[in-house]
Amino acid sequence: MRVLGIETSCDESAVAVYDTGAGLLAHCLHSQIEVHREYGGVVPELASRDHVAKLAPLVKRALAESGGEPVDGVAYTVGPGLAGALLVGAATGRSLAFAWGVPALGVHHLEAHLLAAMLEPDPPDYPFLALLVSGGHTQLVHVARPGEYDVLGESLDDAAGEAFDKTAALLGLPYPGGPSLAALALEGDPSRFRFPRPMTDRPGLDMSFSGLKTFAINTLRNETSTASTRADIARAFEEAVVDTLLIKCRRALLQTGLPRLVVTGGVGANRRLRAAAAIMARDMGVQVSYPRIELCTDNAAMVAYAGSLRLLAGEAHGLDFTVKPRWPLASLSPPASQNRG
Ligand code: KG4
Ligand code: ZN
Repeated sequence: MRVLGIETSCDESAVAVYDTGAGLLAHCLHSQIEVHREYGGVVPELASRDHVAKLAPLVKRALAESGGEPVDGVAYTVGPGLAGALLVGAATGRSLAFAWGVPALGVHHLEAHLLAAMLEPDPPDYPFLALLVSGGHTQLVHVARPGEYDVLGESLDDAAGEAFDKTAALLGLPYPGGPSLAALALEGDPSRFRFPRPMTDRPGLDMSFSGLKTFAINTLRNETSTASTRADIARAFEEAVVDTLLIKCRRALLQTGLPRLVVTGGVGANRRLRAAAAIMARDMGVQVSYPRIELCTDNAAMVAYAGSLRLLAGEAHGLDFTVKPRWPLASLSPPASQNRG
């Protein structure tokens, strides 16, 4: 089955073609960084308008790159995300499916992130523990099989990516903050500041990252804001986030006995996190996987893949589509045919 995937939940317009036999055939993306940069963050109305302008050309490009064969289904992100942005992808996807006479399916954005590692050449077996770290979510998820997700712990306030973005902004770094803070941290001295590892001194798998941003503000206030001080703060912040995430991961792996860890979502593109997770996993005798960097951050390949599992099982949505800006992961169930089995 060949599926066209569409992703427009936030500030990336993306279209991909995934074939359940031949794999990923096309994967095109337009980032809105330039649109939002002068505002220091995503402006929802501008995001929607830019999706409208960019999506149709991306669909054409992805279809051409995939060889131009007809697709058997269309999958688009319907939530969670920005309502207006989601509507553009959902309306486009639904209309294309109608015009082509193929089934259409709304995909959960976090399910797509959770399954993104399956697009890699050596995908992990089920079950696995996923550390899902994005701009909007930070969760530890027991993934028993597609559609069966148990959220074991999550951030009670800011998501890790949000903390990166906010701390980057106060260090004067351009949007999007995560990658720019990570780049600055490379120049920082790791021994100058030590940031706390929030909520690691008490049991449980929940997390909190908003205090680290406050810690960064206070540290900056107490120092002269030189370039090297800002780099040292970036380094201490990044190490604290990575360390905190991995302390909780380790705990979840021990608690569940799961033999595999998948690190995914935009912050999963962070090289320090990827390297530290690999070391931790090796020490614990656990297998670790991550999607390649461009499949960690928002993309349509993961949407096409997640959609293909459900479309193959016969799931499809009618013409009266809707978007779900808020949509708990726990409300999903396995693709229809697996459910019956
Ligand atoms: O998954 P994603 O692309 O979009 C959401 O679903 O939220 O994640 C975006 C988040 C942003 O907060 C961005 O700053 C962060 O991922 N991010 C990073 C890196 N690359 C992206 N954070 C830290 N280091 C990175 N290299
Ligand atoms: Zn995402």
